[in-house]
Amino acid sequence: MSEALDIRNTQNDAYSVPLDKIDIWNPDRFRDNTFWPYFARLRKEDPVHYTAESPHGAFWSVTKFEDIMYVDTHHEIFSSEGGITIDEDSTDDFETPMFIAMDPPKHDLQRKTVSGIVAPPNLVKLEGTIRERAGKILDSLPRNETFNWVEKVSIELTTQMLATLFDFPWEDRRKLTYWSDLITADETSGLYESEEHRQAELLKCLEYFTVLWNQRVNTTGGDDLISMLAHGESTKNMPPMEYLGNLILLIVGGNDTTRNSISGGVVALNQNPDQYQKLREHPELIPNMVSEIIRWQTPLAHMRRRALQDTVLGGKQIKKGDKVVMWYVSGNRDEAAIPNPDAFIIDRPKARQHLSFGFGIHRCMGNRLAEMQLRVVWEEILKRFHTVELVGEPVRVRSNFVKGYSHVPVRVHPR
Ligand code: HEM
Repeated sequence: MSEALDIRNTQNDAYSVPLDKIDIWNPDRFRDNTFWPYFARLRKEDPVHYTAESPHGAFWSVTKFEDIMYVDTHHEIFSSEGGITIDEDSTDDFETPMFIAMDPPKHDLQRKTVSGIVAPPNLVKLEGTIRERAGKILDSLPRNETFNWVEKVSIELTTQMLATLFDFPWEDRRKLTYWSDLITADETSGLYESEEHRQAELLKCLEYFTVLWNQRVNTTGGDDLISMLAHGESTKNMPPMEYLGNLILLIVGGNDTTRNSISGGVVALNQNPDQYQKLREHPELIPNMVSEIIRWQTPLAHMRRRALQDTVLGGKQIKKGDKVVMWYVSGNRDEAAIPNPDAFIIDRPKARQHLSFGFGIHRCMGNRLAEMQLRVVWEEILKRFHTVELVGEPVRVRSNFVKGYSHVPVRVHPR
């Protein structure tokens, strides 16, 4: 169960394989939680590392905190245009442009169109709703019985939040969960039969949202994400596939990441009972703990860029057009930037100094919303439960991008 054990068990493998054979992209390692020593070795021996062959073609891995920060804050050298995951390229026939995968000036204009949704006054408005909903979800949890925390709490809460941001028909909100899963799931997930099937389902998502767009385009004053897109200067004439792309961004951005942080917190506290006890004694540490959970979990393992020019990074010659992958999951465990980085410490100094939200012009738009959601959930959990006890092995998602859980078996013990 413990991460330390997983690390020890794979240590030998990670150091016996030749550097150029390290399959750092392998999603099985993320499912099995055995990727840590591979990154530790790369940080030490080859921090900007070239993989010549992989199912995703050739790519560079950037594994240290400062180098990742450099790539993220130099968008004029490292472009997001066309895709931000290791496996994605805009040459695919099912193209869904979205502003996270655009460079300025279009990126900046589209981001500005929707960023009001997470502006401080709106967050204040949302906090009461989140608290009430979190309370209801926690009050309805089964007692004296094992259940899946991911399903009953993390998914339910983040889906409700997403439905609120879109002003999405409440009774259909689980469609959002389905589409979010469909976007991030791989072929072994059982969620879809073929790529054609997956694309057909995503077109149904577009169809559903087009009805909502048409309802809102002629009314003014709507403060939901769909109204913002329908009225925004830079988005109101988007082709349908760009509408779908931006929907995908907003659905996945606000859903999987926060979901996996809510689940990750339960796992981290159970693996570190001394920290759980510290939290019970000092609930005022919740805001700091939230940042530590987000660092420790790193819900998105990487973001990828493409070099717009020849450049040098960490002494390595990167060629124009090369794929460059920033492994946030590794940078967040870089001992040169974060003291004792493998430890989960809820009162860690400067806990907000992590890479999980990225940096630069693409820095997570929803970072304050995510932190607020997590803070409120933990405040409400502490009011009700002495322990949310992890009673079995968590099941992790098989993905080198979304780092999270499908199953976190727990029992709750009231105060
Ligand atoms: C713990 C939760 C979250 C994590 C870890 C996370 C992580 C990230 C990361 C790594 C990026 C890209 C940063 C970069 O390339 O430099 C990003 C971008 C983004 N996130 Fe989040 N996110 C979270 C929650 C949310 C929420 C709740 C929303 C909802 C509004 C959201 C919306 C977005 C959007 C729209 C972008 C694109 C920003 C741009 O390209 O300018 N995220 N997020």
